[in-house]
Amino acid sequence: MVSTHPAGVQNSGYQYLTDSITAANSPNQELLPLTARVNSHDCLEIGGCDVTSLVQQYGSPLYILDEETLRTACRQYRDAFKRYYPGVSQVLYASKAWSCLAVSAIVASEGLGIDVVSGGELYTALQAGVSTEKLYLHGNNKSVAELTLAINSGCTIVVDNWQELHTLAQARGKRQEARGEDSAAPIKIMLRLTPGIECHTHEYIRTGHLDSKFGFDPNQLDEVFKFVSQEPSLNCVGLHAHIGSQIFERQPHQDLAAVMVQWLSKAKNYGLAIAELNVGGGLGMRYTESDDPPSIAEWAKAICEGIKNACEVHALPLPKLLCEPGRSLIGSACVTAYTIGSSKIVPEIRT
Ligand SMILES: Cc1ncc(COP(=O)(O)O)c(C=O)c1O
Repeated sequence: MVSTHPAGVQNSGYQYLTDSITAANSPNQELLPLTARVNSHDCLEIGGCDVTSLVQQYGSPLYILDEETLRTACRQYRDAFKRYYPGVSQVLYASKAWSCLAVSAIVASEGLGIDVVSGGELYTALQAGVSTEKLYLHGNNKSVAELTLAINSGCTIVVDNWQELHTLAQARGKRQEARGEDSAAPIKIMLRLTPGIECHTHEYIRTGHLDSKFGFDPNQLDEVFKFVSQEPSLNCVGLHAHIGSQIFERQPHQDLAAVMVQWLSKAKNYGLAIAELNVGGGLGMRYTESDDPPSIAEWAKAICEGIKNACEVHALPLPKLLCEPGRSLIGSACVTAYTIGSSKIVPEIRT
């Protein structure tokens, strides 16, 4: 259990033995948190806490987060990108998976940044003390209030569409007028593109196909690059794509790496010094016994190799590589405990 205030984020008395944690199973391949066990009272125990006692103390339904599992997943992501990618890398936590002060503070203390998708998530990450250098605001329908909060905080805005691009281009002018400033810094942005990559996951969580509602159409890449390169109020630092969630194959992410490096090479034609590629999230996790996702390290290796190979082909220097896992980072650290009210037994069929 963790407290809901970052000041109260403690390791609950565990000994964190980095070596044994690094060698641990990949949390996304587990059904339960790494510390789950049945204790001598025949009760489920998580992180050394008896779940029945927790429910007695806090009531139910009760969300339980195993800090050790979350930290292990953070370290495995961070360490795998360091191991397999010779350039600079940064793992971001996609906080839509669970945004609260304690979780934000824990992932930040492991060196991760955070990807947020609303003003509320951005506010939470800021309150948890996450550095704005490592904060990225997503969304295909950001309000002016959310964009303003992002601009004032100095985080990077991942621009999803033309409308947003125009709003941001005008925002600096308006700010200068309102404050009488003549040199407001350009707004740091990334561009989200739709890579046109299909993957085998549920259609509702597939976002990489060409008619997805997210991101610019890559067929308009020239216009987008031209616009951004001529707009002094915008500082485009990177490109982003996210092909979907709960993906068990590695090939779509390798294909994505190749496509994104092609975009990067095109940016040179417009004099844009784009130095960051963000490949999104998407690694699946184990919800049922039969689910068999790749490990965090296997996924990271596939992506890093994809980017390295494509950069070699295009003779490009390695970009700073970002990824933003959500469910595979936190899902198996979480358990919800319920109290059974009443039950119905249909003999030999179902309880
Ligand atoms: C833009 C973006 N990045 C990252 C994620 C996280 O994906 P996952 O939880 O599959 O890792 C999502 C999920 O919807 C997303 O939309």
